[in-house]
Amino acid sequence: MGTDVITIQPAASIRGTISVPGDKSITHRALLLNAIAKGKSQIIGAGLGDDCLSTLSCLHQLGVQIERVAEHEFIVHGIADQLRASTAPLNCGNSGTTMRLLLGILSSIPQFNVLFGDSSLTTRPMGRVAEPLRQMGASIDGRQNGNLPPLAIKGNSLKGIEYCMPVASAQLKSALLLAAIRADGTTVIDQPSRSRDHTELMLSSQGINIDTSGNTIKLDGGQDPIAVDVAIPGDISSAAFWMILAAIHPDADLSVKNVGSNPTRAGVIMILERMGAQISRDNLQSGSEPAADFSIKSSFLNGTTISGEEIPLLIDELPAIAVAATQAEGTTIIRDANELRVKESDRISTMYQGLQKMGAAVEELEDGLIVHGPSILRGAKVQCHGDHRVAMALAIAASLADGETELWGASAASISYPAFWRTLQEIQSV
Ligand code: S3P
Repeated sequence: MGTDVITIQPAASIRGTISVPGDKSITHRALLLNAIAKGKSQIIGAGLGDDCLSTLSCLHQLGVQIERVAEHEFIVHGIADQLRASTAPLNCGNSGTTMRLLLGILSSIPQFNVLFGDSSLTTRPMGRVAEPLRQMGASIDGRQNGNLPPLAIKGNSLKGIEYCMPVASAQLKSALLLAAIRADGTTVIDQPSRSRDHTELMLSSQGINIDTSGNTIKLDGGQDPIAVDVAIPGDISSAAFWMILAAIHPDADLSVKNVGSNPTRAGVIMILERMGAQISRDNLQSGSEPAADFSIKSSFLNGTTISGEEIPLLIDELPAIAVAATQAEGTTIIRDANELRVKESDRISTMYQGLQKMGAAVEELEDGLIVHGPSILRGAKVQCHGDHRVAMALAIAASLADGETELWGASAASISYPAFWRTLQEIQSV
């Protein structure tokens, strides 16, 4: 548990025009998918949180040359299927995306590799990925029969499968797609509901024929991705903290530039608008990964119910949405969000504990939270449980609270957003 402490004072107002780091999910994919492509690609606007750095260093160990040519710009020299066995185990750090997508890629590489992570990643379920990849032909083993890291993988010739996913997980879907491009025959994946589709979009821009119809994805094996340049928009999951802080703060007017608004990621905007947030969009950029500038003002929010197919569209934003709910009039119910229990921390439990300690009226459900608002939050000593999104969600709650808050383990924010604390200082007047 984190012993580093960041102290937050209530903010008198929230103002400014800011930008956020490049989208974490798209950065992982731009690096990984171009590493296994033929040719050279340029990535601009990359997110440089610790998770993306984990992907970068694993790819180096696997023999991929990636040059950093400017602060957020990389040139990837793709090596197609020529990844090598790393002499040292691959450290995925805190990053589930790194581990799960690499498992998909390494499934078809006839080399032995070992993947491990930090104490959080070591408890996260990998069987959901290992099991179907084994059905395709990969050898994967680890603790609990390959459910828990460290994992050892030896790739093989793969065959396409028909697979009905038990959870709406973009990491699982992506791992299967990355194995499927190198398999013999067709792979058909059925998702229980739609999750972020960055992998499908990027593979398709790399010349891979991928067919999505409803919740079913079909991909013929034996296709080689070609290198593609990627301009990465700002991360909506990072922007969500600022948008929510501006919406719930009584004296706020904030603009966030160039935020990715892919509809499979933008559920938070839909929910905030449904709750009554005043959000305007400007400078809309279309394209396979759309983006826009968003402006948000202090708003009067109402409670809402978030459940079912909406959950995967905003899964990472739920900790921040729970904070918004503490300031909304009426009850907010979050259901069908069991996946929160297997994130970087058990986010149902960790957000429940943090918000309750700060004076919110919150109830813990097996699959979600109930928040009764509005309530006056008070400064407290709260634990972030080594979870970047819990740290940032509690930080925005602290900006609104009466009195000082001590956030224990808040340095975890660097997993996705190293500049978070600096931006918080920039936009708030105390
Ligand atoms: C991600 C997918 C989601 C999300 C994670 C990033 C991705 O996880 O929570 O932060 O980049 O594919 P699941 O696929 O496990 O839901």
